[in-house]
Amino acid sequence: MATATVETTESSGAKQDWVQFETSIDYGKSEYKYASYLPHYVPGKQSPLIEFEHQDVGLRADPEKKALLNAPGAVFEEITPAIGTEVRDLQLSALTSQQKDELALLAAERGVLVFKDQDFADIGKDRQKEFGAHFGPLHVHQHGGQTKGYPELLPVYRDFTAGAVDNEIKNNVSSIKWHTDMSYEINGMGTTIFFCLSTPKSGGDTLYLSTTAAYENLSEDYRRRLHGLYATHSGFEQAKVADHKERYIRDPIETVHPVVRTHPVTKKNSLYVNRLYTRRIQNYKEEESASILNFLYNHIEHGQDWHIRVHWTPGTVVVYDNRNTQHSALRDFNVREGETRRHMLRITPQAERPFFDPKAEESAAQKPASSTTEPSGNQPN
Ligand SMILES: [Fe+2]
Repeated sequence: MATATVETTESSGAKQDWVQFETSIDYGKSEYKYASYLPHYVPGKQSPLIEFEHQDVGLRADPEKKALLNAPGAVFEEITPAIGTEVRDLQLSALTSQQKDELALLAAERGVLVFKDQDFADIGKDRQKEFGAHFGPLHVHQHGGQTKGYPELLPVYRDFTAGAVDNEIKNNVSSIKWHTDMSYEINGMGTTIFFCLSTPKSGGDTLYLSTTAAYENLSEDYRRRLHGLYATHSGFEQAKVADHKERYIRDPIETVHPVVRTHPVTKKNSLYVNRLYTRRIQNYKEEESASILNFLYNHIEHGQDWHIRVHWTPGTVVVYDNRNTQHSALRDFNVREGETRRHMLRITPQAERPFFDPKAEESAAQKPASSTTEPSGNQPN
């Protein structure tokens, strides 16, 4: 096992300590291409995040997304009708600003975009950060690991020592933890980039689902019943299960968000409660709140009609909209001490504070049907 190491950097005259997480693999002895992305934490507390106004770049995109969908040679294929588009022969790293705006719109419409054979993992940290910042101010996790010198690049790293045998799941019958990333924050997360650096050959897939489709499959009466309800989302339990309190850079918070939220770009509604962070419906008695939340969690999590599963191969990058999807990692892989690791990287732009627009369904219905993701000429035979 490699023990924690401390490195100090200096920028603008300020010294910063970076403590590397303990890992099962001894990176001092082994060569690893992505060693500079191993998780670190910064000792000490930082200020709370402040609410800000967000103008989504998807709002200024060409509704037909011509620059993106007609990129020469690019192939877009729906994974299922409700969620997911697979994209081949198009490098994210080469997108223009206009194409990135259209990417945000496409991600909002499809929930999850799976890009294959990307060079994105190798373009360097500055370009990765710049790419993510196109979509919104980049979130820094309250206690997750940080890439040294790039706190906005979140390594999701597990090996025998670092999280594979995880306190969060040791008392559960499976590793499934459906959630929207950090839904306890005030501004929610938006167009998110997630990619693999090193994954087990078998296992470690990520599950995604559409909370828009889950919402739309409810009866009109039930949907109406949820309109205007608010629920508490909490970061406290995450803090409680964390082994290493010293890694917390902010105090955990609780925030109230609408149970049904409206997407600012598509104007579609989706269910905004998740089992990991949502705690209680406001103004309801405990049993009333529990009965609605449990119904919604089971409904969201069990409707395979709006679920997909992404298997990570080298070069796979997922762009997902954290507003209208949930996901769960699978920690199903066999872990060999000193050998097995699952090393991913997430770049998480923040978006608007979740809101519910009672007129959204009307205006979404009046919008022309959104164009398909397969432009003529680019469809595979
Ligand atoms: Fe997540």
